[in-house]
Formats: sequence, structure tokens, C-alpha cells
Amino acid sequence: MSLSINLVNIKLESCLMNASGALCTTYDELKDLSQSQSGVIVSKSCSYVERKGNPKPRYYHSDNFSINSMGLANLGYNFYLSSAKYLNSNQKPFMMSIATLDDEYTFQILDSALKSPHIAMIEINISCPNICNTDTILAYHFTDLDNYLTKMKPYLDKNENSKPIGVKLPPYWEPYQFKEMSKLIVKYGFNFITLVNSVPNCLVIDTDTDSPVIKPKNGIGGLGGSYIKPVVLSNISQFYRLLPKEIQIIGCGGVETGEDVYHHLLAGASCVQIGTSLMKHGTNIFEAVGNELKTIMKMKGYDSIGQIVGHLKYNTPMQDGY
Ligand code: DHB
Repeated sequence: MSLSINLVNIKLESCLMNASGALCTTYDELKDLSQSQSGVIVSKSCSYVERKGNPKPRYYHSDNFSINSMGLANLGYNFYLSSAKYLNSNQKPFMMSIATLDDEYTFQILDSALKSPHIAMIEINISCPNICNTDTILAYHFTDLDNYLTKMKPYLDKNENSKPIGVKLPPYWEPYQFKEMSKLIVKYGFNFITLVNSVPNCLVIDTDTDSPVIKPKNGIGGLGGSYIKPVVLSNISQFYRLLPKEIQIIGCGGVETGEDVYHHLLAGASCVQIGTSLMKHGTNIFEAVGNELKTIMKMKGYDSIGQIVGHLKYNTPMQDGY
């Protein structure tokens, strides 16, 4: 029995990997991931130059959730290109996450990532929340997003080595959002989508201090962890039914156990990212969750991850779309 899966044209030893943002900003964190049982090393969403991010405390977790407003603290894209080069000796695929802050620079980052022999895959983050002085999340504004992707298209077309390129999406809520976004994913030829980024603009209050648990933006930040799992499963299931099957889904959100991964796979994810639980437990989480998943697979008689993907038994006859 194996946890391996092909993500587009890349064979992964495990369908599990870190979520961008979780323990993947510094070289030591990335090295830890390279030595863990994660199937991929995913780097922190990067900007052109280093960013210090928002004031601290900017991350908080408790039993069932995390909230963050990091403000895109990262070491700049060149740092992640170099890290990929140094970590590549053990052959684990490196997925570079690229923030979409400022289009001209973002396109240069994309260009460099596509040219680097050390970057296996690219996740374009069009759902960055938490940036001070920005009122919008690009992926919620379909006309703006369409215009933006039109400008990005010439760079996407320069993908000579056919590297898998995907987009990381925010949680959607209304059926029209799933339909509009699906059209754009097909139109621009993305190979995978990561579902979902943290639920944006949440507030958590500490009773002892009568204050928000994080400082930036009056305590407003992105929510992750098991509280958001039903939202994630719904997003995976809806996109899985709307998109052509060759566009793969990476689930992200609310994964603490092998059973959580199993649910993501049933809903239609081919791979699963772990964020909050990785922050809580460190990189041993991949082995622990992987072993739990193997126990479920054995019990249910599965040999491979591919046999589970999208096999949720709906109570009404399965329909594509709605
Ligand atoms: C940050 C948070 C995100 O959810 C994201 O996708 C990118 C950046 C941040 O606050 O650093």
C-alpha cells in the first residue's frame, strides 16, 4: 500500500505536503521539510524583495483553529530559488508559492521560477489576505482576476518544461463563484488548484485580556484549522464536480488526522496540505497522519490514493456541476 500519487506529471512519494506559510519561510524550516515525510517542499508565498510583515503577535493557535495576519513576511524570491537549489539533492519536488502583490514583479518571479531547474511546480497565490492597505483579495473579483491573468498569460505560455502550475484560491460560498472561477481555471490552463486559503477577515477574542489574540488590522486575520474543514470539503467537492478531471485538486484546511485526509480525498483532492497541525506538531505530523491514513486504507481495502479520489458516495445521483 502506498501514499504516492502523480501530481500532473510529477510523481510524489506521498500525497501529503505542507501548506504554504506553515514552517516554510527560513532555510532551516525548508530543510526540515526536505527531511520529513512530506511529499513536496512548499515554500512561503514570496514577493520580489524581502518583507518583514505585520507587527507581532501575528499568529495564534488553540485546540481547533489558528488565526494569522503575517503580512507576507518572507525572504524574497531569490532566497527561495537558492533554497530549492541547495535542497534539491534529495530529489524531493520543490513547489514555489508566488504571492500576487504587484503584477510586474510577480511576472518576473514567475519567469525565473519557470526557468529554474530546481523548481518542480508553481503555486500562484491569488488569495493573499492580510496585506495592510489592501482591501481586496484578487480571487474574489473575477473581472479584475481575468484582466490580471490576461497579463500573466504570456509568461504562463513560456512554460517550456511543462511544469505544473496551479492557483491557490480563497474559500468560495455561492454557486456562481464556483462556476465563474472554474471557467477562468480552464481558460488559463492551470494544471491544479489548491483549496483553500484561510477563511479571511476573522476575529478571535481573548477573554482574559478583552483583546483580539493577534495585533495587526485590529485583530482581523485568516482562520485555519479544524473549524474550517466543512468549508474546505465543500469547496473541493464543488470544484471537483465542475472541472475537467485532468485539473487536479490539492486540499488544504482542517487536516489533523488520517481521517481528515481521507475525507479530502473522497471529496476530490489528489493531494493534501497541512498547515495549522504542522505549526502545532512540527514535521512529524506527516508520518503520524500518513500512518493513520494507511490504517484506514487497509480497513477499506484500498491499495493506492488514486482509488479514493472523488469517490464520495453522494446520497442523490452524482451530477457534474449542479
Ligand atoms: C499570508 C497569509 C496567507 O493566507 C497567504 O495566502 C499569504 C500570505 C500572510 O499573512 O503572510
